[in-house]
Amino acid sequence: MNRPVGAPLYHDVDTIVVRGSEPLSGAVDVPGAKNSVLKLMAATLLADGVFELTNVPDIADVTIMGDLLAAIGVDMVRSGPGALVLTNSGEITPVAPYELVERIRASINVLGPLLTRVGHVRLSMPGGDDFGARPIDMHIAGLEAMGATFKFSHGYLEASADRLHGADITFDFPSVGATENLLTAAVLAEGTTRIENAAREPEIIDLCEFLVSMGADIAGIGTPTLIIRGVARDALRPARHHTVPDRIQAATYLAAVGVCGGTIDVVGARPEHMAMLLDRFADMGLSIHTTDTGLEVTCTDRLRSIDVATLPYPGIATDYKPLIITMLSVADGVGIVTENLYPGRFRYVEELQRLGADVRTSGHHAVVRGVPRLSGAPVRAHDIRAGAAMVVAGLAAEGVTTIAGVHHIDRGYDDLVGRLGQVGASIERSSD
Ligand code: EPU
Repeated sequence: MNRPVGAPLYHDVDTIVVRGSEPLSGAVDVPGAKNSVLKLMAATLLADGVFELTNVPDIADVTIMGDLLAAIGVDMVRSGPGALVLTNSGEITPVAPYELVERIRASINVLGPLLTRVGHVRLSMPGGDDFGARPIDMHIAGLEAMGATFKFSHGYLEASADRLHGADITFDFPSVGATENLLTAAVLAEGTTRIENAAREPEIIDLCEFLVSMGADIAGIGTPTLIIRGVARDALRPARHHTVPDRIQAATYLAAVGVCGGTIDVVGARPEHMAMLLDRFADMGLSIHTTDTGLEVTCTDRLRSIDVATLPYPGIATDYKPLIITMLSVADGVGIVTENLYPGRFRYVEELQRLGADVRTSGHHAVVRGVPRLSGAPVRAHDIRAGAAMVVAGLAAEGVTTIAGVHHIDRGYDDLVGRLGQVGASIERSSD
């Protein structure tokens, strides 16, 4: 991980080779959440000093975010397994260049902290994802309500504000990124900011708790109404924080048992963070129990089909959907999946079809007719979640499935191959 800035992160020739698997058994631990740790890292821009983050997943996006923070003025060192030390020397260059921003969506999370701390930012405009455009109009409108002005030219946005002030902001939609940017900006703003219809994912709660441990004043944590009373800059101090476990990685191991059968312990999984998903997995035939350390999941029979719609938390997350469609591909019956966040997030369906899945999409719906078994073939990962779903599909397929585009999986999964191998899956990584 302590790699020169700009050096390649991955070998694009890598593939993951999966063979249809026997029932799984044993235990797997759940690493920290990508979608929390990247935001915690960005929040270290708010105060000078030395921060320590633990339960940090070993994923490429952490390295990329570290490169971005290094360019701005926060130095990151891996101090041990799952531990990061970030040092904010106070010498901040509030510029996020294209080469780094284009590699990671979460680079938008430096906007709020930089604007509130330094008073100006120059940020390359973040692009879309393979699953469609990802606008930032809500981030901008919220920061404008707090007194920021924006200019856009040559692919960059420039934001400035003498000192941001509190505002009452109501979101049309509980955007994760916009909630995080306004929250971090409001921490040092003058007066009180009230965000209505705020996102309330476990990762947002984690960020709020980190900010509070730094000295921020936030009420309503975990509810749709966040009230942030701005504090003076010298009231914020560095903090240590243990990153919340990754509910999407946890769900991936549950899905693997769903298609292979068997019993595994998913150590560190937090059932309260995935309650609705666990209910739906139970409807599909998984037997899931809370244990002292996490979850125990068993599957003995073929899965049953269900209908599912994605929604903001506490609904079923869009990031679970490729896994759910994969499970439905081999379930008994017909399931309809409705995507309410990213209408274009169905590209991996073509790859599943190559494996023999019977899935049809129309607009933001997918109709999945389960087949008894998929059939192994070469496929490609188009994004992080689709990539993990291809791995699970490979476990459900007869013969060999070879997954290309592994660098997408590396962005968000900490040793998926090793962890699945540990519970008995027939899986390896190849660099040939
Ligand atoms: N949206 C707008 N305008 C905005 C902001 C969002 O129209 O200003 C729309 C988006 O286009 C999208 C929807 O609102 O249709 C949801 O966007 P949101 O802002 O909630 O998502 P995000 O912050 O961009 C995070 C995760 C995604 C996850 C979504 C939804 C990170 C880095 N990314 O994105 O995770 O899918 O929330 O839960 O936290 C992933 O990890 O693979 C991933 C894509």
